[in-house]
Amino acid sequence: MSRAFVLAQISDPHLGERPRDGVKPKRCLRAVVDALGRLPNRPDAVLVSGDLAEHGKAKEYRLAIELVGRLGVPIHALPGNHDDRATMRAAFGIPGSGDAPIDYAVDLGPLRLVVIDSTIPGEIRGGFEPEQLARLEANLAADPERPTIVATHHPPLPTGMADWDAVNLPPSERRALADVVAGHPQVKAIVGGHLHRVAASALAGRPVLAAPSAYLQARPDFAAETVSLYASAPGFALHVLRGEDLSTQVEVIHL
Ligand SMILES: [Fe+2]
Ligand SMILES: [Fe+2]
Repeated sequence: MSRAFVLAQISDPHLGERPRDGVKPKRCLRAVVDALGRLPNRPDAVLVSGDLAEHGKAKEYRLAIELVGRLGVPIHALPGNHDDRATMRAAFGIPGSGDAPIDYAVDLGPLRLVVIDSTIPGEIRGGFEPEQLARLEANLAADPERPTIVATHHPPLPTGMADWDAVNLPPSERRALADVVAGHPQVKAIVGGHLHRVAASALAGRPVLAAPSAYLQARPDFAAETVSLYASAPGFALHVLRGEDLSTQVEVIHL
């Protein structure tokens, strides 16, 4: 049997955000990276699924690359609503120009990662331009056999709260994404961040996972329909591919 291929996912480190309850984002990301480094087997690659930088500054991206780079494995990044596309693109050497959406596909070996940028400059919520969905379709059609993870910042799932959905990916955008994914059976999962909370659902029959934040976690009040952020155990996800089977596992770190 083929060996397991491990893609680690780090999300929402928000480097540069002010400390909360005495906890700094840099300390949290360092703890997450240290925990990944202590795993018995090193991940094969890392995905950083957005909101790397609180203010979209070059120095915040340099710090992200320095900290995550300690793992010594390839880093693949996508933007969140706090990121600046052009600054992030330059820092990570992502193909494309300036502030164009960051959409790409990368062959990791047994696993393929296809990224679609869900950010809308100046907005918290996510969405996709029609040409981005066409690019996703083309990227998926280009390698229909290889098991694939589709990654985006805003996870295409309902949160159970209208106000939370309104700052995530609205139902129309989830349907648009589902229409593309439905035609590509090699898509094993769709992964995101943004919610600062582990959440799972399904889209077009595929699992959807929102990874925990590497900094603050969300505490929803479903009765009051409010969400607050608080300093708590940061974490990461591991997407483990063995043959055709993908298993997603989450680990949290007690600071
Ligand atoms: Fe975030
Ligand atoms: Fe976000």
